[in-house]
Amino acid sequence: MEVTSPESIAAAVAVLRRGGLVGLPTETVYGLAADAENELAVRRIFAVKGRPSTHPLIVHVAQASSMESWATSVPPEAHRLASAFWPGPLTLVLKRSPRASDAVTGGQDTVALRVPGHPVALAVLRAFDGGVAAPSANRFGRVSPTRAEHVRADLGSDVDLVLDGGPARVGVESTIVDLSGDEPLLLRPGGVPVESVEKVLERRISRVPGRKIRAPGLLPSHYAPRAGVLLAEPGGAVAKALALAGNGRKVAVAVPEAVEVPEPLVALRIPADVDGLARELYTVFRLADEAKVDVAVISVPGEEGLGLAVVDRLRRAAAPRSS
Ligand code: TXA
Ligand code: MG
Repeated sequence: MEVTSPESIAAAVAVLRRGGLVGLPTETVYGLAADAENELAVRRIFAVKGRPSTHPLIVHVAQASSMESWATSVPPEAHRLASAFWPGPLTLVLKRSPRASDAVTGGQDTVALRVPGHPVALAVLRAFDGGVAAPSANRFGRVSPTRAEHVRADLGSDVDLVLDGGPARVGVESTIVDLSGDEPLLLRPGGVPVESVEKVLERRISRVPGRKIRAPGLLPSHYAPRAGVLLAEPGGAVAKALALAGNGRKVAVAVPEAVEVPEPLVALRIPADVDGLARELYTVFRLADEAKVDVAVISVPGEEGLGLAVVDRLRRAAAPRSS
């Protein structure tokens, strides 16, 4: 159920003003939001997530003109990308101004900024009239929430208020482009295809993160369900899953509706198109855990469009776990 009355927007703003935490719907994933200029509130985000405090947060703002107050220098590329994709699933990393504290930036000299493309998030940001720090509203290392009930299930009473903005439209996190150095760098593939960024900038951008940064999304075992994730070639998921099944092992296979799934495999249904897969990916991870499977097998899509972000999340989910 979506509860997005003017009263709930006002309630969320009141929570933010008193230093509380709000589960905030965005078009990518739900965020765990706090007043970016309230250090205690920002520290609570890290405590609730269980995230190392050196990992910087994205500051969400209502409009592109806010870049000028959060960053010292806003290069022309930032203006071009902002007018092309904001509000939307793009985050820009810029040289920070004093408005961006060490608490938010993890002590780095840059700040990450984004104008989210969700009416509820925008309504809250406009009424709050400030920057809102928000990582994805999940415990550290777990699957990002794409529905209000995911936030409640993960964080329970650790979050003061959860706004329900319906299922996230994009389903994977924002694309992060670093414009603080000599060259634009892709730090994380996400909801804006890198091809679209390149078109606006009229230049190619490396798909491989080119610089050492402190970004938890760059740790190999991230975005992971509890179940193991195994990647298959296109069309090879069912055969690979069947080869693993048996010996007491419960195996799921994520395939579109049209693909037949034989016993004893558990069928996890995914959209046949890559935008649909991006939208449903984290829900599928959650369903794998709810079905208590030991391993879920899924085919790797092509890397065009949102495929790059999907493949990135799949590879991380399939990476060896430390625990
Ligand atoms: O779609 C999204 O971006 C969602 C929604 C809620 O907006 N947010 C999100 O936040 O994914 P989080 O904290 O889970 O991921 C933010 C990423 C992290 O990898 C963080 O290290 C990176 O952004 N980041 C933040 N500030 C940075 C900075 N100054 N330099 C480099 N990376 C930064
Ligand atoms: Mg996250």
